Amino acid sequence: MPRVRPRRLRATPALRRAVSETRLHPSDLVLPIFVREGVDEPVAISSMPGVVQHTLDSVRGAVNEAAAAGIGGVMLFGVPEVRDAVGSGATDPDGILNLATRVVADEVGDALVVQTDLCLDEFTDHGHCGVLDAIGRVDNDATLERYREMALVQAASGSALLGLSGMMDGQVAAVREALDTSGFIDTAVLAYSAKYASAYYGPFREAVASTLQGDRRSYQLDPGNRREGLREAMIDIEEGADIVMVKPAGSYLDVLSDVAAASDVPVWAYQVSGEYAMIEAAAANGWIDRQRAVHESVVGIRRAGADTVLTYWATELAGWLNDGVVA
Ligand code: PBG
Repeated sequence: MPRVRPRRLRATPALRRAVSETRLHPSDLVLPIFVREGVDEPVAISSMPGVVQHTLDSVRGAVNEAAAAGIGGVMLFGVPEVRDAVGSGATDPDGILNLATRVVADEVGDALVVQTDLCLDEFTDHGHCGVLDAIGRVDNDATLERYREMALVQAASGSALLGLSGMMDGQVAAVREALDTSGFIDTAVLAYSAKYASAYYGPFREAVASTLQGDRRSYQLDPGNRREGLREAMIDIEEGADIVMVKPAGSYLDVLSDVAAASDVPVWAYQVSGEYAMIEAAAANGWIDRQRAVHESVVGIRRAGADTVLTYWATELAGWLNDGVVA
């Protein structure tokens, strides 16, 4: 007869609840939101069922709903009508992302942390996260100049937390310095520190209507590299990042765990478009229990060490938490 019986603590719902190690709370969730220029109605994103490109008007409803559900914040992405080589729309105060930031900041006040994607890929015609040099390579240091400009416009538009997702070397230090020397000392920096060159960003390309020439392997991390993910996070903390992030989440839980163990700043994770699409597709086919799979996927990311999770299910999942359907 076994002397040690771990099953004892699993016997009833009350016992299981009492010994649960990982609980979700709405404030641990951040909703990524797309806002598209030049449309009168929200546009569905076919590879992300349930997610839309918002208009400057419909985004108000989405953020009010998010605030009512008690989530932690929203991460805004702009979908511009026109793109060029240097991503001019990104630094235009009336560019779609900056306009949307003003609308959202005005709508929700302090109820949500208003965050913005600080990267050029939504705004460049070649789809890269930076500007290109004469022979078509992404030019790191010239891109840093564009990021500095973006940071100032985003901060002035009302973004409280800048999501640096471009994976250029020195981007955190460059943006921090630009913000500080222009008086934006309280605007925080979320560094997408360990951002891998991932196939899971696929549906995001449809979401921001952008096509990429080539690939991003010269600046995003190789999916096989674990130590390098930790190194990137440590560099970003050294450069002044207020929060570091691992992305994607589900396939990089070891990296997340390493970063969480070593970091003295909050650690976030981004459950990306492809992770969303896979569960939605399986659920639509009746192959998986949607609610349980969504919940479990986010619990796993929290358990691995994320303090906060960016997820397209943020508002819906917060609703389930508030209703006590999941914990
Ligand atoms: C860069 C950025 C991307 C995502 C977030 N910020 C795209 C990329 O690097 O290819 C992807 C998010 C997702 O797939 O959900 N602007």
